[in-house]
Parts: sequence; structure tokens; C-alpha cells
Amino acid sequence: MSVKLGKLIYTGKAKDVYETDNPQQVIVKFRDDITAGDGAKKDNLQLKGYYNSIISSKLFEVVEAAGVKTQYIELLEPGNMLSHKLDMIPLEVIVRNIAAGSLVRRFPFEEGQTFEQPLIQMDYKSDEYKDPMLNDDIAIALGIATAEELQEIREISIQINRALIDFLESKGIMLPDFKIEFGYDSEKNIVLGDEISPDTCRYWDMETKDVLDKDLFRKGESGVVDAYQKVASMILEEEDKEKWGID
Ligand SMILES: Nc1ncnc2c1ncn2[C@@H]1O[C@H](COP(=O)(O)OP(=O)(O)O)[C@@H](O)[C@H]1O
Ligand SMILES: [Mg+2]
Repeated sequence: MSVKLGKLIYTGKAKDVYETDNPQQVIVKFRDDITAGDGAKKDNLQLKGYYNSIISSKLFEVVEAAGVKTQYIELLEPGNMLSHKLDMIPLEVIVRNIAAGSLVRRFPFEEGQTFEQPLIQMDYKSDEYKDPMLNDDIAIALGIATAEELQEIREISIQINRALIDFLESKGIMLPDFKIEFGYDSEKNIVLGDEISPDTCRYWDMETKDVLDKDLFRKGESGVVDAYQKVASMILEEEDKEKWGID
């Protein structure tokens, strides 16, 4: 690896962020730790970080190709993603195409119902406050973003959704919903950061309807990492599969 891991600057629930020699770049390290229910349920699943970093890299490339600015520079080796350092915006932006998860627990939607237009939900990213759902007025009053920035985040999120749906459906995967995070780069652009992985998205096999994401872990089922490997196998080019030893 030509870029060296510098000082550890952040340890989250599933990833670490390290400085590099370049002050505008970090290494996002994908760990094998997995959590659900605000950290109430925890485990360590061998190779989870390996697959998540590979899947995220591929999907960052897909959204970049659709004209969205992302953190992604290069996957140095599985697990370690060289990224633009971002000043993160404390928002969890959730894009929903099909009703699932907390949405059907909190509102009278039917599980599996398809929305005519994607729903964009923004939660305040705060473990202390348990990620409450925001509206624009609250986000603005908290100083999280301006009205214009919130509008830009909505528009970029819809663009990302379109790019991901088109790509994943071509690979046989449905995208009911996903969570993304944004930050500002050194030029104050709003840039997609964090990850786009089975930890942060729902992926359903279009043919078998199998769940291929963290819902398996939430429900206490086995084969979590096998499902993540299957996602990698479905979306990667042969050349990359060979490179990373995925069949
Ligand atoms: N490009 C980036 N630059 C700086 N910080 C980032 C970048 N991408 C993600 N982060 C932050 O790094 C952390 C990633 O680790 P994670 O385990 O997901 O943390 P958390 O438990 O806070 O969700 C998150 O807090 C995320 O906001
Ligand atoms: Mg996270």
C-alpha cells in the first residue's frame, strides 16, 4: 500500500478514519464490527469489512459516473478506502423507494408498498439524541444546513437514487431504501461520504426475493457475510472479482 495510515482521527461503530500524509485525504477503514438498534445488538463478522469496502467502492464509482461528487479516490486494498476528507454534515439522509423498516413501524404504510416518488427522510445524526427525524425548519434552526443546502442535498440524493437503481436493477438487485451521509470538501462542495454498503442499504434479490443486507443481522439470521459476498459477486466485473478473490 503506497499511502500510509496516519493518526486515527475517528472511531465509529463500523469504521475508523485515519489521517494520511495529505491533509485533504483520509483512509476510511471498514471494520468487521456490526451493530443494530443504536448499538444494542453487536457482533464481529469476519470479512464483513472486506466486502463492504469493495461494494462501496463499486457503488461510489457508479454514482461518480452519474455526475455526483463523492469522497471516493481509490480502494487501496480491501478494507481501506482512500477518500477525500470531509467536514461531515450531521444528517442521515434516507431515500425510500419501497416501504420497509422503521417507516412501517412508525407510520401506517404497508411493508413492501412501492412509492410513486422516492421519499427523502432526513434524520439528525446523533447517538445522544437517538437520530430523531428532522424537518427543514428544525435542521435550519439547529444550524445543520441552510434551506438552499437542504434543497441541494435532496436533489443530489435523488440523482444518487436514480443512478443506484439503474445499476443495481441491471445486476438483479432491488433497492428498497438506503442511508447516505454528506460532508463539505475543502472547497465547500457538498460531497457524498461514508459508505454505500449492505450495512446502510436494503438490497433484495429480484429473482429469489432474498434479503441481502443488514436486515439478516437485525433479525438474528445466519449467513450475513455470505449475503454480502453475494452482493459483491452480483455487482462486480469479472476482472475485479478475480482481483479480490470473489466467485
Ligand atoms: N470522507 C470522510 N471524511 C471524514 N469523516 C467521514 C468521511 N466519511 C465518513 N466519515 C465519518 O466517519 C465515521 C464513519 O464511521 P462509522 O463507523 O460509520 O461511524 P458512526 O458510528 O458514527 O456511524 C462517521 O461518523 C462518518 O460521518
Ligand atoms: Mg456509520
